[in-house]
Amino acid sequence: MKFFVDSADVDAIRELHDFGMVDGVTTNPSIILKSGRDIMEVTREICSITDGPVSAEVVSLKADEMIAEGRKLAEIAPNITVKVPLTWDGLKACKVLSGEGKMVNVTLCFSVNQALIAAKAGATFISPFIGRLDDINLDGMELISDIRQVYDNYGFETQILAASVRSANHVTQCALVGADVMTAPPSVIKGLASHVLTDKGLDQFVKDWAKTGQKIL
Ligand code: G3P
Repeated sequence: MKFFVDSADVDAIRELHDFGMVDGVTTNPSIILKSGRDIMEVTREICSITDGPVSAEVVSLKADEMIAEGRKLAEIAPNITVKVPLTWDGLKACKVLSGEGKMVNVTLCFSVNQALIAAKAGATFISPFIGRLDDINLDGMELISDIRQVYDNYGFETQILAASVRSANHVTQCALVGADVMTAPPSVIKGLASHVLTDKGLDQFVKDWAKTGQKIL
């Protein structure tokens, strides 16, 4: 499973990239707001860190304007993935932009049928939002699993990019049900290294080592 970083924090992206944890990056208007930076400038900097797909989202609601915005965003770097919302206009934009050879990420997916029509419109990635379904007492992971089954039934090549990933458990479940990619904030990715028994075991090793009175270096 590929790991994308759901962030525009360039220091955090660089840190994760330096030890092989970054296969790509996803951003959205809320993430750009949080960064406090200009979308073109920060996206260009992110593309200088990773060669993997970097999702930059259009903000218009009409297909023609989304297409124009998508073309402008795609000029930033060859690894830009234009992100469009899962609306009828977004799907029209997806069809045109993917027809031009651009990678397209269709976002805000909350149903299998939405994922099905995004694949038919030529999406490179479909982004189902796990956490936001869990928030309203639905099962985000069941959606990932159902999309996997439907895409496999018909050989769709659209990659399932599990989004709104909020916990280590989400990451495990995504890998078990066969998501192609998961995107998560840096804190969730770093948290994957943590286990209470690792901390406890290491504490014991440190104490016992001190008692040996030995040194390696
Ligand atoms: O990848 C989508 C993500 O940015 C949304 O996450 O936690 O706001 O639902 P969240």
